[in-house]
Amino acid sequence: MINLIVACGNNRVIGKNGRLPWTIPEDWDYFMNTTSGGSMIMGKTCYDEFAPHSHDREVIALTRDHTFRFPHAKTAHSLTHALSLAENEQIWICGGEALYQEAFPLASRLYLTLIEHDFEGDVFFPSWEKTFSKILTQRKVQTEEFTLEFLVLEKNE
Ligand SMILES: NC(=O)c1ccc[n+]([C@@H]2O[C@H](COP(=O)([O-])OP(=O)(O)OC[C@H]3O[C@@H](n4cnc5c(N)ncnc54)[C@H](OP(=O)(O)O)[C@@H]3O)[C@@H](O)[C@H]2O)c1
Repeated sequence: MINLIVACGNNRVIGKNGRLPWTIPEDWDYFMNTTSGGSMIMGKTCYDEFAPHSHDREVIALTRDHTFRFPHAKTAHSLTHALSLAENEQIWICGGEALYQEAFPLASRLYLTLIEHDFEGDVFFPSWEKTFSKILTQRKVQTEEFTLEFLVLEKNE
């Protein structure tokens, strides 16, 4: 099954200067636990940030540069190529922005963490409401700094 997983603020911000705009251990643990045992597909910038955490996981990173090889991940040159390399049943599309948009038609579920805060940023999650409109599970968590809502959404078709 192909899933999207993302955390975003009220204003859809997901990234700033190549990094997450926040440090939220509760969401990071959720992300790592949820994707554990699956195949993680991500763009080059995401890989650069995620690489230190990629051990013991199947990570497939994307670049259009056919001469480049990611050191600790499988290298793919398109989403179709990445999907063909995935060895696990659960596939997790981990961003960024263009990859999420490209994967919308292929994904069955969206694992979305909504962070009740307006962050500054330069990367955004595409508008999902019309595509993933069916709520499967919903859980609110209050952290020291933020209110989080963990949602699992499905297409209503
Ligand atoms: N909050 C969250 O849950 C979350 C999740 C993901 C990312 N983020 C944030 O978002 C930012 C990174 O996302 P981004 O959108 O800027 O970059 P990105 O998608 O991680 O990386 C972009 C690069 O990936 C390669 N790429 C992407 N799609 C491709 C495709 N279909 N085929 C071949 N190569 C492809 C290209 O590399 P080449 O230029 O080498 O060809 C492209 O320039 C960071 O700030 C990160 O922290 C946040």
